[in-house]
Amino acid sequence: MTDSKKSATLTIDDASFDLPIYSPTAGPDVLDIRKLYAQAGVFTYDPGFTSTASCDSTITFIDGGKGELLHRGYPIDQLAGKSHYLEVCYLLLYGELPSATELEDFEERVTHHTMIHEQMANFFRGFRRDAHPMAIITGVVGAMSAFYHDSTDVSDPWQREVASIRLIAKMPTIVAMAYKYTIGQPFVYPRNDLDYASNFLRMCFAVPAEEYEVNPILARAMDRIFTLHADHEQNASTSTVRLASSSGANPFACIAAGVACLWGPAHGGANQACLEMLREIGTVDRIPEFIARAKDKDDPFRLMGFGHRVYKNVDPRATVLKQSADEVLELLGVENNPLLQVAKELERTALNDPYFVEKKLFPNVDFYSGIILEAMGFPTSMFTPIFALSRTVGWISQWKEMISDPGMKIGRPRQLYTGATLRDYVDIENR
Ligand code: CMC
Repeated sequence: MTDSKKSATLTIDDASFDLPIYSPTAGPDVLDIRKLYAQAGVFTYDPGFTSTASCDSTITFIDGGKGELLHRGYPIDQLAGKSHYLEVCYLLLYGELPSATELEDFEERVTHHTMIHEQMANFFRGFRRDAHPMAIITGVVGAMSAFYHDSTDVSDPWQREVASIRLIAKMPTIVAMAYKYTIGQPFVYPRNDLDYASNFLRMCFAVPAEEYEVNPILARAMDRIFTLHADHEQNASTSTVRLASSSGANPFACIAAGVACLWGPAHGGANQACLEMLREIGTVDRIPEFIARAKDKDDPFRLMGFGHRVYKNVDPRATVLKQSADEVLELLGVENNPLLQVAKELERTALNDPYFVEKKLFPNVDFYSGIILEAMGFPTSMFTPIFALSRTVGWISQWKEMISDPGMKIGRPRQLYTGATLRDYVDIENR
C-alpha cells in the first residue's frame, strides 16, 4: 500500500478525526477507516460493499467506466487473443508472464496432477443422478480436504503451492465427472498428452465405446472461455473465499465455499439463467414483451446477462465472447441458431432503450458464453460448473495473496443492529 499523502477530516458533534487517504496505482483513492471505531466509536455502514475496499491486491484491476479488465496489468482482450489459459493461470498466481521454461514446468506440474484419488469416485456415487452438477462439485471439492492431508497446512508455503496446483489440475476432472455422473455415463480418466481444454472436452464427451477426437477450434474456444473467466477481483465468490480463508481454514474447504457462492443466479448462475431466458423468449417478435417486463418495477424479472456491479460500460469479456460465438457457430454450421438471433436482437434493442442506457446496463460475460457452450454440446446445468472450473485459479491467487500477507486478520464485519434491546426471558406459560 502507498503511504498516505492526503487525509479527510470527519466531524462528529464537536470532535474531528483525520482519516488517511491512499492512492492506488489505478482506480479511485481509498479512505482508511481502520482506526475509526477505536477513535470515534462509530462503525461505517455499507451493505453489499458498494463503497468498501475489503483488501489491497495486486492481481486484477477493473475500470468499470471504461470497460477495462487487466490481469497483472495486461488487458483481457490481449490475453484472450494471444495467450492461453495455463499461461494466464501462471500470470495470476505468480505475478509475471512465464519464460518458456517456466511455462513448460508449470504445465508439466498441472498436467501431472489431473487424476483424483480413486476412492473419491465413491463420493459421486452417493449423489442422486438428477443432482445439479454444482451441488456435486461443492461437495467433492470440500471432500478434497479429506484426501490431500499433506497440502492443508496453510502456514506452510510449500503446501499452499501443492494445494494450488492440485486444485487447478483436478477441477476439470471433478467437473467432467460430475457431468458424466448426471448423464449416467462412465467416468473418463484424464489424458496427460492433451492440453488443458482438450483434456476437459474429452473427459466430458468421450465414451469408452468409440474414439473421440478433439476439434482444435472447439478446444481453442473452450480455452478462451476459461481465460475470460479466470479472475475478476473482489467479486462475491472471491470475497467468500477470502473471508472463509481468513479463519485459517484449509484451501479445499475455502474453494468449496467459493463454488457455493458462485452458484447463485446473480453471479455465476447467470449464464444458465440467461440461456433459459433466451429459450423462453424463443423468437425475436417476443423481445419487446420481455424488455417491458425487465423495466417494470413490479415485476421481479431482470434481463439475465445484463448489468454489472462494476462495469458501467461494455464488459470487455462479452465483446470477445460475441466474436467467439460467431466463429464457433459458423464452424459447427449452426450460424443461424435461433438463440443467437434472439440474443443479438435483444442486445440491440436493450442498448437502444433509454431504461438500459440511463442505468448503464450492458451485456456481461454471461450473455454470450451460454450460446457457445450450448453449441459445443453442454447442457445448461454445466455452464456454472465451467465458470467454477475457470475461476478456481482466481480464487487461489487471491487466497495465496491474502495468506502470504503478514498483516492478515480474520474477516469480521460489524453491523447496524435494529433488533430488540435487552429484555427478560418470559416463561412459556406466561407468553
Ligand atoms: N435487468 C433489468 N434491470 C436491471 C438489471 C437487469 N439485468 N440489472 C440491474 N437493473 C436495474 C435495477 O432494477 C436497478 O434499478 P433501480 O435503480 O431503478 O432500482 C438498477 O438497474 C441497479 O441495479 P442493482 O441491482 O442495484 O445493481 P447491482 O450492482 O446491485 O447488481 C447485478 C448487479 C449483476 C446483480 C444486476 O445487474 C443483475 O441482477 N443482473 C442480472 C444477473 C446477471 O447477469 N449477473 C451476472 C453478472 S456478471 C458475472 C458474474 O459476476 O458472475
